[in-house]
Amino acid sequence: MSKQKFTLGIVGARGHTGTELIRLVAAHPGLELAFVSSRELDGQRVADHGDAYAGELRYESLDAAAVAGKGADVVILALPNGKSAPFVQALDEARPDTLIVDLSADYRFDPGWYYGLPEITRGDYAGQRRIANPGCYATAMQLAIWPMLEVLAGPPQCFGVSGYSGAGTTPSDKNNTELLRDNLMPYSLVDHLHEREVSARLGVPVEFMPHVAPHFRGITVTVNLWLTEAVAPDWVRARYVQRYAGEPLVRVVEQAPWVSRIAGRHHVEVGGFALAPGGKRLVVVATEDNLLKGAATQAMQNVNIALGFAELTSIPADKENSDG
Ligand SMILES: NC(=O)c1ccc[n+]([C@@H]2O[C@H](COP(=O)([O-])OP(=O)(O)OC[C@H]3O[C@@H](n4cnc5c(N)ncnc54)[C@H](OP(=O)(O)O)[C@@H]3O)[C@@H](O)[C@H]2O)c1
Repeated sequence: MSKQKFTLGIVGARGHTGTELIRLVAAHPGLELAFVSSRELDGQRVADHGDAYAGELRYESLDAAAVAGKGADVVILALPNGKSAPFVQALDEARPDTLIVDLSADYRFDPGWYYGLPEITRGDYAGQRRIANPGCYATAMQLAIWPMLEVLAGPPQCFGVSGYSGAGTTPSDKNNTELLRDNLMPYSLVDHLHEREVSARLGVPVEFMPHVAPHFRGITVTVNLWLTEAVAPDWVRARYVQRYAGEPLVRVVEQAPWVSRIAGRHHVEVGGFALAPGGKRLVVVATEDNLLKGAATQAMQNVNIALGFAELTSIPADKENSDG
């Protein structure tokens, strides 16, 4: 890298994922926060909203033209779904070389964009300046299913439970702590966006039934897999361990992982590996912090890959691939 530091701006920096991104970028030795946008926090000091960033930067209310006018090397869009297009268009016109990473679903189905789930797709990265960051559930589902792809006898069924930070900060039933108290809230039980995303990415139909729970962060996906042939427990586990060997952000564990242990961590845990009698039905459980590996951490991996940094720069990933 010839430059001392790349400049990076975050659009939608007030939100849950934007807040995590500020933390990761502030800790990165090769990146400098150029701007952080928020309409609601316009003018307020970033340092007054958390301990992640100690500089003088303030939130700014920036429209698409103003974002493009900032001239940052990297722009991360952390906006609600359906809001990214004007920003992409303005950057396309004014500064097409800008590296854009979009956290929303808006470009995940666009073949002109690189889909950045590094453990599965980093081999396809060919210098694209437009990167679609995968969905949180979609990340966990793909990592849970991928090692078994060749032996699937039918659509995997995925029962998902998310903390309510997955619903963002715009008030809705799904982040209403009163409605969620002592509750589990099913929603979008067929044709959820992430069902379509995972089906499209893996090339097999996937069935996904999401729920929101009263905890704040972390998701669990319990995946039921019907297999074409009877398999043994050791074979299954060895397959996952082998597939994720050398992947610090995917940890293969023996027991079914617990969501309470993944909050604040940057990796995904995959485990459980329960085989029904006969060996043709396998249940796998994956947990992930939706705001980290499900969003900000993955975006940081993608930025690092695109800029030529070591992929885990600024990501505290001290974990081994397997617990035994
Ligand atoms: N939460 C998760 O677990 C998760 C995981 C993976 C991916 N994602 C995706 O990441 C994106 C951000 O999610 P989030 O949970 O961080 O959302 P969020 O907490 O609701 O934050 C949204 C951000 O966008 C800004 N914003 C909202 N409407 C806007 C508009 N019309 N124009 C400009 N700015 C606007 C908000 O700030 P101001 O209102 O102050 O401007 C806020 O900073 C979403 O597309 C989501 O699908 C989320």
